[in-house]
Amino acid sequence: MSTLIKNGRIVTADQDYTADIYIERDTITNIGGALPQVADTVIDAKGKYVIPGGIDVHTHMDMPFGGTTSSDDFETGTRAAAFGGTTCLIDFAIQTKGQKIREALDVWWKKGEKATVDYSLHMIVTDLPEAHLEDLNEMVREGLTSFKLFMAYPGVLMVDDATIFRAMKQTAANGALVCMHAENGGVIDLLIQKAIAEGKKAPIYHALTRPTTAEGEAVNRAIALAEMAGAPVYIVHLSSADALEKVSEARDRGIPAFAETCPQYLLLSIEDLDRPNFEGAKYVFTPPLREKWHQDKLWAGLKKNTLQVVSTDHCPFCFKEQKELGRDSFAKIPNGGPGVENRLQLLFHHGVNMKRISLNRWVEIVSTAPAKMFGLYPRKGTISIGSDADLVIWDPNAELTISAHTHHMRVDYSMFEGFKVKGNAEIVLSRGDIVVNKGVWNGKAGRGHFIKRDTFAGAWR
Ligand code: URP
Ligand code: ZN
Ligand code: ZN
Repeated sequence: MSTLIKNGRIVTADQDYTADIYIERDTITNIGGALPQVADTVIDAKGKYVIPGGIDVHTHMDMPFGGTTSSDDFETGTRAAAFGGTTCLIDFAIQTKGQKIREALDVWWKKGEKATVDYSLHMIVTDLPEAHLEDLNEMVREGLTSFKLFMAYPGVLMVDDATIFRAMKQTAANGALVCMHAENGGVIDLLIQKAIAEGKKAPIYHALTRPTTAEGEAVNRAIALAEMAGAPVYIVHLSSADALEKVSEARDRGIPAFAETCPQYLLLSIEDLDRPNFEGAKYVFTPPLREKWHQDKLWAGLKKNTLQVVSTDHCPFCFKEQKELGRDSFAKIPNGGPGVENRLQLLFHHGVNMKRISLNRWVEIVSTAPAKMFGLYPRKGTISIGSDADLVIWDPNAELTISAHTHHMRVDYSMFEGFKVKGNAEIVLSRGDIVVNKGVWNGKAGRGHFIKRDTFAGAWR
């Protein structure tokens, strides 16, 4: 099976030129000005950009959390991702306390069998006695080269500093990367208890009990632990200027500290949590939304490469029956929000169109940097001979109003309802297969592969 993409403007993290792309089966085999014009499928991409498929390194499909389960599974979630131009995601397998890490991996491999595009997994480690450190090396051999640890959610996911340090020592030796949920969980728990005792139970108190200082403190501590362990660290879903400053200071000292943010922190604010009729619950996720002024700092961080990646932290819960579990108290609202479909659209419109970032930088933060950070590059994250044909024909002029009525995520609301964006995925190829063709779904459950990843390339900036 061969595919020719003609006349497209190829945009990668560092190039921008017009050429044809030739694909045989699942791989790019030629790029140039005068390729053979015969192929089983020919796509004319004149007037469009051709970019490497988006890579979302932070999603939670089919995840039991907060007394319920996230509403997208690997089939519906990867399908929605593809509609928005994301052709690979890295989800989180979870080791429950006392469970063998190997058993946790088997559970998530089973869930992943339904994926419609390629995916990989990080492992959330909640229990790591000294005797089980070798399990981390086993995961790395299986191609799982990153681990998420939580400094928040005491009694559920949180681990202590000794566990973090132990895990980081191990990753310093085996080349994996620790991803850190950095919020001071102990202090936040006390603030939550106090708010509830005072009858402050509306969704806004989710944000008011998780101050930016609790994030800044934890980011600082995570980086200090990594420095002592001689390991790199990647801060997930960074939301505030306080946290950004800590990453910036560390990077200025040459410490391998990295971080991602998410569209919700760039475009939404604490005011959304104060929406009437319990609508604020739609915006309950952690870390919480911040005051609006933090947004400019995060955009600046993206521009300066203090932040390297934008992921979504896609963790959807329906408003009806799921978010409503917390009607009588914000502490019972399942934490998480949907977004896997809209990342490229929002970043293109609010980043490139609004001149906050360049076109190349857009490709870098949504595809290339995630691939490099998590051991997928150059198989994914770029357009080069030998790379997987995960490609997006992007129409920079397509206009879209984001809405739950038209999105493909299995959730009954959109955090970005009514947002008008210009720029959208028109045709999406996953390993050479056209999975989305002008709004029509051609993919199928189970065609996505689990991708084994390389270890963290420590020399990468
Ligand atoms: O609220 C969130 N972010 N839910 C997903 C779990 C996490 O902490 O990433
Ligand atoms: Zn988290
Ligand atoms: Zn998350």
